Amino acid sequence: MATKPSSRQSASKTPIDSLMKESRLFKPSAAFTKQANAGSSSIYKEAEADPVKFWEQMAEELVWKKKWNKPLEWKAPDAKWFVGGTLNVTESCLDRHVLVNGTTRRNKAALIWEGEPGDRRVLTYYDLFRQVNKFANVLKKFGIGKGDVVAIYLPMIPELVIAALACARIGAIHSVVFGGFSPESLRDRINDAQAKLLITADGGYRRGQIIPLKHDADVALMDCPSIENVIIVKRGEFLLRVKEGRDHWYHRHMQEADPWCQPEYMDSEDPLFILYTSGTTGKPKGIMHTCGGYMTGVHATTKLVFDLKDTDVFWCTADVGWVTGHSYVVYGPLSNGATQVIYEGAPDWPDQDRFWQIVEENAVSVFYTAPTAIRAFMKWGRQWPDKHDLSSLRLLGSVGEPINPEAWVWYNDVIGHGRCPIVDTWWQTETGHIMITPLPGLIATKPGSATRPFPGITAAILDENGKEIKEGGGYLAITKPWPGMLRGIWGDRQRMIDTYWSKWPGIYFPGDGSKIDTDKYFWILGRVDDVINTAGHRISTMEVESALVEHPVVAEAAVVGIPHELKGECLVAFVTMRSGMNQDERLLGQLKDHVTRKIGALAKPEKIIFTADLPKTRSGKIMRRLLRDVAQGKVMGDTTTLSDPDIMKKIKRHYEED
Ligand code: PRX
Repeated sequence: MATKPSSRQSASKTPIDSLMKESRLFKPSAAFTKQANAGSSSIYKEAEADPVKFWEQMAEELVWKKKWNKPLEWKAPDAKWFVGGTLNVTESCLDRHVLVNGTTRRNKAALIWEGEPGDRRVLTYYDLFRQVNKFANVLKKFGIGKGDVVAIYLPMIPELVIAALACARIGAIHSVVFGGFSPESLRDRINDAQAKLLITADGGYRRGQIIPLKHDADVALMDCPSIENVIIVKRGEFLLRVKEGRDHWYHRHMQEADPWCQPEYMDSEDPLFILYTSGTTGKPKGIMHTCGGYMTGVHATTKLVFDLKDTDVFWCTADVGWVTGHSYVVYGPLSNGATQVIYEGAPDWPDQDRFWQIVEENAVSVFYTAPTAIRAFMKWGRQWPDKHDLSSLRLLGSVGEPINPEAWVWYNDVIGHGRCPIVDTWWQTETGHIMITPLPGLIATKPGSATRPFPGITAAILDENGKEIKEGGGYLAITKPWPGMLRGIWGDRQRMIDTYWSKWPGIYFPGDGSKIDTDKYFWILGRVDDVINTAGHRISTMEVESALVEHPVVAEAAVVGIPHELKGECLVAFVTMRSGMNQDERLLGQLKDHVTRKIGALAKPEKIIFTADLPKTRSGKIMRRLLRDVAQGKVMGDTTTLSDPDIMKKIKRHYEED
């Protein structure tokens, strides 16, 4: 299973930036290619010749109640995939593994769950099938049916997977909110989607601390009139208040529930879930995905990118609160009948080898994580992974942000021991599934490059006017429809058109900059808008600014993202105060806490700088670009358009003194 380095065959003529410093080419070994689910490059040729046919072949691998009449209807920006087809996605994820005669998966482990304190549960496919059916019946008992929105605010426990699938079973639309979001963020998401029911837990564990989810949910629910009932999963012995009539214990209702629930057959284009993500305004967007297309894209990419076999143990470390967890914890691995590990807690609890202990003890063979985690592992040192037998690993993946070549090489050497292909996968909440990635048996990898579009995906680098750049840098664009593409932003069609479809006619603009080299490899450089990726989380700088100005002492705020050694990027806030306020350490702490309360700890600025004024153009627009230059210690850009050209000198001095 070697990925042996060889010198690159054709040197890139593009100016090589820091991302492209590592020049080795890592070729898949013949042994890997021989056993790979995608072992022949004809897959690329065939998909290129007829992408719609390729996706139809992938869709054939799912369980359909009624086959589609037409594979695609496309009138930009609206796509309909597998038109006329009906299905219930849980039949692909569960029923086919347990109800089909002769299946070997009925008693196969579906979920191996590790709790942070050291507890462990294994659910076979049959267990999971029964639990999902039972919970689907519980939801029905509470009046939930097709088209209703159910909010889920849970720690990483099996019930999170069960809850999502139970919604899908009855045609309800789930909206999972990451457990690290604040009560206010939860409230806004519930209200935007008009969710009828909330599923939460008494609490969860993170780095030895208890996350008081039910308490936070209670705060949110003070202002969520659409919620009729709350179902509480008992994770521990955590104190909470139960509101009679509204709050119900999960385990009590599960005891009585019937283990069979007739699946609700959905049109291929009916919604499956909403997932909120940050955009360039203060208000998160509810990205909507549908049943047939999303499931097809997720199933195919899981099978071909992660090369999953029945003998594998897959571990995607993402929380189900993010899209990676939706696609590569819930839907993709289960529709492929895989065994997977899920872990509740932090990678450094109780020690910095927790992940490697989990890999060793469960013989994990395919491991998928984020560059931010890899950089933390590098910092903690190789003695932690070296304490463990990692020989079960055969494939490694990366997602969420650009991976720097040093981290890539460390991952390859220290975790993969040079034996495991690495798949650097580019995609987004909006794309639903992996879009740019090597297929591990076919594509030679270059550290830092996500390489090529997945078969059936057409990507290009365009300039501002939509002209293709064959070699060099520009905007990443997806030029043809794909099955998992977002079908809308919940309740805001115009915003979807403005955000993704108005830069170039009929072409999807993801908001990322990228380069392409002479081998047609993509090198994703990161966001070109006011969205930043910090520690693998997507945050809008506008959202943090809005939170800051809601604090009574703050007059104005400008937030920028700058590079950070571990997190990839971090947030720096420049804040002007209302007059007469003391700019002391205590206030700094208060402002950071305020952002945590408003959005969640993930949005807390790394640094807050008090300044007398912000750089503005004569028309009053804040020049964030200049603030970014100051925060990065760069030579400052053009300041001649500022209403007060001296302001930047003052801010710079202040920043350097801080
Ligand atoms: O900037 C890109 C970055 O993450 C963004 C999408 O964030 P989100 O919707 O939260 O989904 C993250 C998990 C799929 C993208 O616009 N991104 C994601 N994967 C990569 C990446 N940047 C570079 N390389 C990647 N492999």
